[in-house]
Amino acid sequence: MNDICVCNSVTEEDIRHAVVAGVRSFEALQWLTGCSGGCGGCEQEARRLLSDIITEIACAYPTFHLMPGQDGQ
Ligand code: FES
Repeated sequence: MNDICVCNSVTEEDIRHAVVAGVRSFEALQWLTGCSGGCGGCEQEARRLLSDIITEIACAYPTFHLMPGQDGQ
């Protein structure tokens, strides 16, 4: 699989897993994966991909954006 972030070997699948694990911001993605922690050349693509994946999963699972305890349960 192709790296989105070549400096830190972060793939699209890594970003997808991060979103499933609860990542909702670029800063959180950086903290969890190290993405864009080197030259920074991947930042724009990583931000776009993060947004696209969050949107994709949120559309498929409408309550996905809710954190535990925010859904009234
Ligand atoms: S390619 Fe991601 S920090 Fe360099």
